[in-house]
Amino acid sequence: MRAAVLHTPGEFPEYGEHPDPVPGPGAAVVRVTAAPLVPLDLLCASGTSYFGRPAVPYVPGVQGVGVVESSDDLDPGTRVWFATQAGMAPGDGSLAQRCAVRTEDLVPLTTGVPDAALAALGLSAVAAWMSLTWRGGLRPGEHVLVLGAGGAVGQAAVGAARSFGAGRVVAAARSVAARERALAAGADAVVATDGDTDALAARFADAAGGRLDLVVDPVFGPAATAAARALSAGGRLVNLGGASGDVADFSSAVLRGKSLSVLGYTNNALTPAERAEAVTAIAREAAAGRLAVAHEQVPLADVAAAWRRQATGDPGVRLVLTP
Ligand SMILES: NC(=O)c1ccc[n+]([C@@H]2O[C@H](COP(=O)([O-])OP(=O)(O)OC[C@H]3O[C@@H](n4cnc5c(N)ncnc54)[C@H](OP(=O)(O)O)[C@@H]3O)[C@@H](O)[C@H]2O)c1
Repeated sequence: MRAAVLHTPGEFPEYGEHPDPVPGPGAAVVRVTAAPLVPLDLLCASGTSYFGRPAVPYVPGVQGVGVVESSDDLDPGTRVWFATQAGMAPGDGSLAQRCAVRTEDLVPLTTGVPDAALAALGLSAVAAWMSLTWRGGLRPGEHVLVLGAGGAVGQAAVGAARSFGAGRVVAAARSVAARERALAAGADAVVATDGDTDALAARFADAAGGRLDLVVDPVFGPAATAAARALSAGGRLVNLGGASGDVADFSSAVLRGKSLSVLGYTNNALTPAERAEAVTAIAREAAAGRLAVAHEQVPLADVAAAWRRQATGDPGVRLVLTP
């Protein structure tokens, strides 16, 4: 089959021939129709992640959308979203024409959302969804601030906060284009994340309308520091990524003065069943037009160019590879 194959950790994958998947006991074979390129794919392939150096050659791609070709549990032809362990454990991933997938990592789809649109949402939207609900405990009417709102996690968090009945959704992002994506996702107001931390905290508080209950934070660093200062009493900040840096400052006075909670979140803490439930809900919201991530379809043959764009940290939109 044709696939994106990583031969050396830290380098870009090459498009070429790769052996067809051989499913283990109970695993399915899926014909891939759409697979997004996400920060986790690049992290795993870097060889420097906390997952360790991956065995090569391997096919990256931790998720995708496709059609079951063979399975013990699902009928051939069943449309599915699926996850893989590519780069985190031995085995190949979704950036290929076909992929072997463990049964528990398959989510049958019943909604009409297009393959590329659902692939673009995928695990980014799962992280946004669960950060708002399971981790952040969002209640209807609460005011939400989404950092890094031009990225896939950020756009999904804006849309999901709307779906959950947030009273006000403020989006923060670095560039004009990123802030436009956040507005398209449903933000009430946008804030540029630049300048001095005190001034940024004041702009966050102002945009939030005098009340800020929950921050969804995929970037950390100075923006998280400013966001914590803008939180209201009892506010929560859920961090799920460090796109701008691995460290943020929170003073004791800021945390204890308003009884704030700073929480971490990872998709890896979810059971397959919890993840499947989130994907099903996300597909339902996407089909209803309430949840979307700006994306661009790229032929799998152009994987090296797409990988280079994602490696800049600002690909513009979610790149979805189509075999
Ligand atoms: N914990 C989890 O389970 C989980 C799941 C999915 C993703 N993540 C993490 O969440 C983060 C965002 O993922 P994504 O899929 O949304 O990425 P993406 O679609 O590729 O978008 C890039 C994101 O990174 C931000 N960014 C990039 N470079 C930056 C810099 N130098 N300073 C500040 N912000 C920067 C962008 O902010 P702007 O909007 O301002 O451009 C945007 O939010 C990544 O770190 C990813 O690893 C975690």
